[in-house]
Amino acid sequence: METTQVTIDSYSDAKELLDRHGQGQLLDFWDKLSDTERSALLSQIETLDFPSIARMQSMLGQGDAAQAAFGAGTLPAEVMTPSEQETADAINIGESSLSEGRVGVILVAGGQGSRLGFDGPKGAFPVAPITNATLFEIHCHKILRLEEKYDTQIPFYVMTSETNNKPTHDFFAENNYFGLDPERVLFFIQGMWPTLTGEGKIILDSPHHIFMSPDGHGGTITALKNSGALDDMASRGLDTLFYFQVDNPLIEIADPAFIGLHANTGADVSVKVCAKRDAGEGLGVVAARDGHNMVIEYIDLPEEEAAATLPDGSLKFLYGSVAIHVFSLGFLKQEANAELPLHVAHKKVPYCNADGETVRPGEPNAFKFEKFIFDVLPDANTVLNLAFAREEEFSPVKNATGADSPETTQRDMIRKYSRWLEACGIEVPKDDSGTPVYKIEIDPRFAGNVQDLRSKLPQDFAVTDDVLLV
Ligand code: UD1
Repeated sequence: METTQVTIDSYSDAKELLDRHGQGQLLDFWDKLSDTERSALLSQIETLDFPSIARMQSMLGQGDAAQAAFGAGTLPAEVMTPSEQETADAINIGESSLSEGRVGVILVAGGQGSRLGFDGPKGAFPVAPITNATLFEIHCHKILRLEEKYDTQIPFYVMTSETNNKPTHDFFAENNYFGLDPERVLFFIQGMWPTLTGEGKIILDSPHHIFMSPDGHGGTITALKNSGALDDMASRGLDTLFYFQVDNPLIEIADPAFIGLHANTGADVSVKVCAKRDAGEGLGVVAARDGHNMVIEYIDLPEEEAAATLPDGSLKFLYGSVAIHVFSLGFLKQEANAELPLHVAHKKVPYCNADGETVRPGEPNAFKFEKFIFDVLPDANTVLNLAFAREEEFSPVKNATGADSPETTQRDMIRKYSRWLEACGIEVPKDDSGTPVYKIEIDPRFAGNVQDLRSKLPQDFAVTDDVLLV
């Protein structure tokens, strides 16, 4: 447990604690605060995680060395591209795990989605090409289809942060949990951390409020433990957890082949990887050093290594992780007590000036720290890095325009569903550039894959207009 276990009822308790940690400035405005503001500030002070703050302070001033993940001897990790037979065998095993109710799903949705510029939880972003179904609806319908198909129960653990927990909860409730049984949708809240000045001081953004931000998706495992979700998983008989990010509607949730290959390999954690589009694409690459697997985040991969090629012209560090994982429950339990490394970024953070006014700076003024989930990889005895076809499973909504935007994601959804129809023998009209002429959308609840679709399509089905299969 990383949070400070103290109860603070009074100014003197708070002052003693903060002075001990060199953070007395948090009480600078005490005399001017109302009772409500005082108690709000004391509650925030109570949550401060001083052991982690000390680790953050020790990183300040170390520049890039603070998070240099790329050390001598770091090489590309081994990646599996399974044969058809291996995939078929794995599907049987994955399907058994699903029908025996041993698989749960973890979604990380605590991020702020600031690049997309969407006001609200990112999962509430409407993305489907015809119905405008949201990311959350698409994910839930996929789980629902799996529950129906395998006559099973799949608990769904959704990580939020304090900033978006209530709106996320409300959104699920207003939409009747998109058909899922609310008893199996479990929200858990990740930790929040303060930001620091270059001198290691915690930043207030108003006289009675500390600026806090989520502790990164590496906070998932601690949050699972602290919320009781790890125990819940064990009590429901789960042993395998599928993990994914909210921004990717092409995700194949709890893909039986992936689950089966994870089991067959005896992996603690498995990682889906795809070939990077180019050397500069913002994907963490899978690597290994001294027998330990890892993901090197794109900003930590030296430029010359990112651009290095093999004799056949392909990138040396070709495979990127798209944050789709399978974890064994035992490994999650083990990692709940691990101290993951911190990653630091210099950011613009609103702060409270000496007059008690909130100032929004034009330049970065604060150091923000996060933990990353893939930093558990070096602790694993066995890791499976599994190659997949990116066009089938990965097209995230990250930016408002350009690459990885709603426009490219919708295009990729239409292309994927067109391929499914074609695999069922249906002709899909296309223009000269090979782009489908009509919009095509298949509700994941209607069909979760080509086999599903084949069994449900009407005999005389033809594409002569936009296609919506719900
Ligand atoms: C992330 C990965 C990158 C990967 C890429 C694939 C990191 C640091 N990098 O990049 O290696 O190749 O996705 O799409 O993650 N989240 C939380 N809490 C947090 C922070 C994030 O729940 O405190 C969640 C977000 O809601 C989102 C996901 O984590 O679902 C990814 O966060 P984001 O900041 O968008 O990561 P990327 O920079 O896109």
